[in-house]
Amino acid sequence: MDTFRFDPLAADVLPDPYPHYRRLQDEDPVHWGVAGDPALPGCWYVTRYADVEAMLKDGRFGREINAPAAAATAIDRISAQWMVLRDPPTHTCLRGLVQRSFTPRTIEQWMPRMAAIAHRLIDTVADVIAVGGELDLLADFAVPYPVIIVAEMLGVPREDTAHFTPWTRALAAVIEFEQSDAVRTAGLRAIADLSAYLAEIIAQRRVEPQNDLISDLLAIEKETGEALGDDVLIGTCTQLLFGGNDPIAHLIGNGILALSRHPEQLAWLRRQDGVAESAADELMRYDSSVQMTFRYALEDVNWANKTIRRGDLVALVMGAANRDPMQFPHADRLDLARTPNRHLSLGQGIHYCLGAALARTEARVAFDILLRRLPKLSLSDVPLAWEEKVAVRGLKLLPVRF
Ligand code: HEM
Repeated sequence: MDTFRFDPLAADVLPDPYPHYRRLQDEDPVHWGVAGDPALPGCWYVTRYADVEAMLKDGRFGREINAPAAAATAIDRISAQWMVLRDPPTHTCLRGLVQRSFTPRTIEQWMPRMAAIAHRLIDTVADVIAVGGELDLLADFAVPYPVIIVAEMLGVPREDTAHFTPWTRALAAVIEFEQSDAVRTAGLRAIADLSAYLAEIIAQRRVEPQNDLISDLLAIEKETGEALGDDVLIGTCTQLLFGGNDPIAHLIGNGILALSRHPEQLAWLRRQDGVAESAADELMRYDSSVQMTFRYALEDVNWANKTIRRGDLVALVMGAANRDPMQFPHADRLDLARTPNRHLSLGQGIHYCLGAALARTEARVAFDILLRRLPKLSLSDVPLAWEEKVAVRGLKLLPVRF
């Protein structure tokens, strides 16, 4: 199709990509498009549910196309240990280290702590709420909420968790496609500070294990008699600190926005006894905070009459797959009771979100407490602006009043 080129950052796509996805699904489901900056190489955008699901499970598409850079920076060394960026066999080893800490049963035990963190964040802004003021639900609640939860799970003392939001923000900025020198310098400083901080906690837990994730990782060293090494330990901790922050923050933001735009669904949810998993899943499907993930073609592949060359970048657009009418009846309708709901927001295949049970539980707890404690929550009149990001979909600010 030569008539239009899809650009996820285009001004008319950012506020509502869904009509554009539908056009791609109908006219060119495996589409060669551009990504923001025309100086960057293009990539294939795959938008139909069946294709996205199949490619996520297809070993001909992977992550490791380039040899690691010789003069690696601290960020390169740490991110080389991020399972999401690795293929088997390294991926299998890294995921195996933490998998058992993320089972639904283990995560369930964290529910009371999550609820306490959510209440604490709302208590902090109770004065504003009491006088019916305005606040940014992202900055004041949704952004710090997942960072504090994972920091506490790792074993970071509560009084130190305040450092983690700025550290993880500075790092997240470096991982985006385009970045200025100032952003990169701030990111490098953040990784140095975060690594030094984590190294200290790791050293303490070696001497005195606690009931936390860092101690669980160190227990593996004891079981196998093999040291994991600082890069693996710090890399794994930072992957966990990062993996879910933006996705959870914007799941809450996009979810509150969707509920505000669907008052009958919001009223229905308020009448329920808590927020069921199916409601959280529908909010994930309807306006996913993770719109796409990327793979390289590891060999030449023919797919839907297109030749995808070895080394080509492929964007698997879960945000589009989630609205594919071939998979979901009334795909554009928000239906909090929808079942079945095999959305792809959490991925599929070997990289299926490690934090899936955590994500669902965090979402249920957050929506439940927000709805109960803020019964009059509504959007303020400030115009909405979307983050200029390719993979993550979310608002810059979510101004609300009470
Ligand atoms: C709404 C929230 C979340 C969404 C939408 C989400 C989405 C995803 C997706 C799509 C992937 C697969 C990426 C790919 O195939 O390239 C993934 C992987 C991953 N997620 Fe999540 N995630 C969420 C929350 C979390 C949380 C809370 C954590 C917590 C630690 C987490 C940790 C991870 C990790 C470690 C991976 C890599 C797994 C692997 O490579 O095997 N995620 N996530």
